[in-house]
Amino acid sequence: MAKKIEDMAKFAKFCKDMGFIYQSSEIYGGINGFWDYGPLGVELKRNIKEAWWQDMVRNPPPGPDGQEIRMVGLDCAIIMNPKVWVASGHVGGFSDPMVDCLKCKRRFRADKVHFACATVDNVPHAVSVEADNATDAEPLLKDKIAKLDKKKHPAGRALKSAPQLEFHAATALPAPWPRPCPADDCDGTLTEPRSFNLMFESHAGPIASDENKVYLRPETAQGIFANYRNVLDSSRLKLPFGIAQVGKAFRNEINPRNFTFRSREFEQMEIEFFCHPAESRKWYEYWRELRKNWYSTLGIKSDNLVPREQGQEELAHYSVGTTDIEYMFPFSDEPQELEGVAHRGAFDLTAHAKHSGKDLSYFDEEGWNNLLQSRLTPFKDDKNRQPDEIKLREDEKKKLELEEKPKFQFVPHVIEPSAGADRFTLAVLCEAYTEEDVPDAKGKTEKRTVMKFHPRLAPVKAAIFPLVNRDGMDEAARALYRELKAHFNVVYDQSGAIGRRYRRQDEAGTPFCITIDGDTIKDGTVTIRDRDTLKQERIPKGEVRARIEALLRPEV
Ligand code: GAP
Repeated sequence: MAKKIEDMAKFAKFCKDMGFIYQSSEIYGGINGFWDYGPLGVELKRNIKEAWWQDMVRNPPPGPDGQEIRMVGLDCAIIMNPKVWVASGHVGGFSDPMVDCLKCKRRFRADKVHFACATVDNVPHAVSVEADNATDAEPLLKDKIAKLDKKKHPAGRALKSAPQLEFHAATALPAPWPRPCPADDCDGTLTEPRSFNLMFESHAGPIASDENKVYLRPETAQGIFANYRNVLDSSRLKLPFGIAQVGKAFRNEINPRNFTFRSREFEQMEIEFFCHPAESRKWYEYWRELRKNWYSTLGIKSDNLVPREQGQEELAHYSVGTTDIEYMFPFSDEPQELEGVAHRGAFDLTAHAKHSGKDLSYFDEEGWNNLLQSRLTPFKDDKNRQPDEIKLREDEKKKLELEEKPKFQFVPHVIEPSAGADRFTLAVLCEAYTEEDVPDAKGKTEKRTVMKFHPRLAPVKAAIFPLVNRDGMDEAARALYRELKAHFNVVYDQSGAIGRRYRRQDEAGTPFCITIDGDTIKDGTVTIRDRDTLKQERIPKGEVRARIEALLRPEV
């Protein structure tokens, strides 16, 4: 029976030992919320970003009516004019309510601190814990109360004897309840919730003054909106079309956690798809479906993927509707966001037009010309026209220009599929990780850890082994290695027993192991072993490249 991840700490250690992910600056004790990708991790993440770019930008599938989709890319600076972040609402609103402990100085997200309260002998008492939501908090609070030392803890006796408890989150804790710190080793008191902006700040230029203040972008999206006019003018695109960008984003997350899931520096893969307002619902549904299916084509099992339409109360200030594509990560009992597909309406272009003073509306020239042509057709338009016929046509044209033309000028709506490259990398690692029993060369059962990556994403596509390092096998293996490495990321491994070499490649998730043996020298065939089925096949050496290529083709 195959086993998946049960212990995230063990899994993180495996990722480190294999060279997938390391803690950033580990030799100095690390830094919370920052991660580095090792030799295998960097290949995996590159493959993810390249698959996204290939499937979404260079070769997107047809649109909802079978039409070709127009997509272009962009690569913007991380630091932009700070006015961008005023217009987008990030300066004013990109914040979490936080509470600080006045004694231990720890800081907590107010919506993650929960209290159990009771009044005994007219004195209000409370305890608190950190939890994701009220449902998770209640048993933790009851457990904490049960463990309170009645003598030492002032609230202990009162809360234990209270006939009924009230439960509140720190975001809405009414007076007169006290606000004890949730940390087990602290008896301090929390402040009222205060806003804490998540943008990292810096200064452009040598003087650290307010005028020079800049922000590290918290999302790649705003670079796209700020360049919308440039792209339109330089590429002659017509609606509908999408602009895509992959790049770093930075958020000073209060509580980075769950390995790389919530980091302070991460990469996004974002699309802003601009369309006519009357068609935005159709495109929203199209992208929702397309993006969910994309994950399945890369090996994420559909029962681990859950699209969830956000409730009205959850929607970001810009969003008319958002669907989160969630994944069942092993560190949580509930699916967690992998990507958000948001219907942003005309919010962003309207805001940037207002703050920059630039016209970011779109004129549908084709639609207008079609209307003009169809409405003017009944009017005579040839050399022999009489003055009254000319006037009739001109009057109709003026009327249309006055009444109809403005309808072709509008601010496009935007559908935004916004994915996290690091989050998807984590999901791919979690999905691939498998511990299973397999027969060894002698038929005895042994345990193996295998990363069952989709071949497109696998960091290494094939490993080439000489069975032994003599009799021409090593030269033949090196020659094949040299030929293949011009096309794929492949490795050459000549050390250790062949079974050990297979296991090493299983842990790296390499789909194929190719062995050069005595028969290769005689008849030019090699054995090719499949990582998942363990089946070995003998094929001509010259077919190896095509065999690998076939597996790397995107699903259509
Ligand atoms: N432009 C819209 C936007 O940025 P978001 O839901 O805040 O929306 C989009 O972020 C995606 O970026 C998320 O679905 C997630 O995959 C990734 N992401 C956001 N915050 C992250 C963090 N702290 N660490 C890792 N990935 C993150």
